[in-house]
Amino acid sequence: MRIKYTISVIFIVALVIIEKENNIISKVSDKLTPLALLSPSLLSAPQHNDSADVSSDQHMNHHMVNSTWSIQESVLPASSAGGRKHILLLATTRTGSSFVGEFFNQQGSNMFYLFEPLWHVERMLSVETGGTNATVAGPAYRDVLHQLLLCNFSLLESFIEPPPEDHVTAALFRRESSQSLCEESVCTPFVRKVFERYHCRERRCGPLNLTLASQSCMQKEHHAIKSVRVRQLETLRPLAEDPRLDMKFIQLVRDPRAVLASRMVAFSSKYKIWKRWAVDEELPVDEDEVRKLKGNCDNIRMSAEIGLKQPPWLRGRYMLVRYEDIARFPMAKAAEMYGFIGIPFTATVEEWILKNTQASKEVSGVYSTQKNSSEQVEKWRFSIPFKLVQLVQKVCGPTMTLFGYKFAENKEMLIDKSVSLIEERTFL
Ligand SMILES: *[C@@H]1O[C@H](CO)[C@@H](O)[C@H](O)[C@H]1NC(C)=O
Ligand SMILES: *[C@@H]1O[C@H](CO)[C@@H](O)[C@H](O)[C@H]1NC(C)=O
Ligand SMILES: *[C@@H]1O[C@H](CO)[C@@H](O)[C@H](O)[C@H]1NC(C)=O
Ligand SMILES: *[C@@H]1O[C@H](CO)[C@@H](O)[C@H](O)[C@H]1NC(C)=O
Ligand SMILES: *[C@@H]1O[C@H](CO)[C@@H](O)[C@H](O)[C@H]1NC(C)=O
Ligand SMILES: *[C@@H]1O[C@H](CO)[C@@H](O)[C@H](O)[C@H]1NC(C)=O
Repeated sequence: MRIKYTISVIFIVALVIIEKENNIISKVSDKLTPLALLSPSLLSAPQHNDSADVSSDQHMNHHMVNSTWSIQESVLPASSAGGRKHILLLATTRTGSSFVGEFFNQQGSNMFYLFEPLWHVERMLSVETGGTNATVAGPAYRDVLHQLLLCNFSLLESFIEPPPEDHVTAALFRRESSQSLCEESVCTPFVRKVFERYHCRERRCGPLNLTLASQSCMQKEHHAIKSVRVRQLETLRPLAEDPRLDMKFIQLVRDPRAVLASRMVAFSSKYKIWKRWAVDEELPVDEDEVRKLKGNCDNIRMSAEIGLKQPPWLRGRYMLVRYEDIARFPMAKAAEMYGFIGIPFTATVEEWILKNTQASKEVSGVYSTQKNSSEQVEKWRFSIPFKLVQLVQKVCGPTMTLFGYKFAENKEMLIDKSVSLIEERTFL
């Protein structure tokens, strides 16, 4: 009896610690699964041609996919990457980045995918007041990403705590979220006495030997990293200009009102101030919190503005994707991303998306019984007080306008189901 009790307590404590430390609680399933249904137009398109060729547009809606990619390709400077693509998926929390990261993680044996390696860097550089100093963190993030894309783990190692011994660590954050770090070739014999919090799930492996990981990385055709920590796209310019890399930046954005609504649920304790303010007429707005919100929105907008302007160093290397479009048209968007990167969209990714968006073949015929996916994407409108919506609109207005998120002018409009707050947009 006592043993059982102790085990439960330890288990709960462990869970609490994991939740606290993990800023990205977003399990793939809790996020997009209920929302993401395939668009009817996709399902009526001819399906499952396993030739896995990006040039075949059959998975995509025609109006969504434009031949612009091939135009952009032709102006790219020559790279010595030898056909190898280097992908950075850049996002902020609660934008579905774990889900989109899976598009690359599931690609199969020729993709080396890393999930949030910058977690270690952020943790080490955190200042006492919380957060990091961008002047210090920016260059560190850039350099770690730069080296990792070249399969060099040595700089990252200097941020891992406790420091790896002989390039071996049991402390790599979310190791199990990277298939590449758990596959046969990097799986060392299981060691009974070593506790690894983020141990591999598919097979029992010993602590991660980063020398092996690096060797495996060098053998993979393409390299991808997802991160919610880079604040300014411009800080990554040296990566785009390194001839050894053929960079593809994908920026994932989401309606800031929905992000706030989602964060208030996910990181409940951090948002107590917001909640109190939303219901209390008297309470003055917390300037610090507003400044943070504005900072986030401005960073996202400034990155996107540079990306969309396509300066020479970014030409053909930047793609903007909205969470709302991923949730509504996951397959089309995934195919579009692969087309942009310039690598084949594989059947394994397609199958994974089908499985994880509840868009199985059986239901494709009975659409009416499925919940309307646009409605699901806008569900946040019913869970957030209008007062908060107004504040976000005021603080993040230019960001929202850029991405095509319509303002709710009053409370009635906010909860009026017949009005969508998402404008249809194509970003080139
Ligand atoms: C599948 O793609 C191949 C090669 O592009 C093509 O020859 C074939 O006709 C396609 N099949 C279908 C069913 O569209
Ligand atoms: C592709 O994009 C160009 C430029 O924005 C536009 O003029 C054209 O109509 C688009 N084509 C399709 C098929 O959407
Ligand atoms: C951030 O770090 C830089 C360089 O160390 C320093 O000059 C600056 O004052 C710091 N900024 C803040 C807000 O602490
Ligand atoms: C990895 O990067 C470090 C600098 O951080 C460098 O000293 C080392 O030689 C690099 N390793 C390889 C294999 O290029
Ligand atoms: C890690 O892997 C490398 C490459 O196989 C090997 O040389 C090294 O001895 C391994 N490190 C440890 C501590 O086992
Ligand atoms: C889904 O909902 C949106 C907004 O409520 C509406 O515009 C659209 O027509 C609906 N689609 C279907 C298939 O019912």
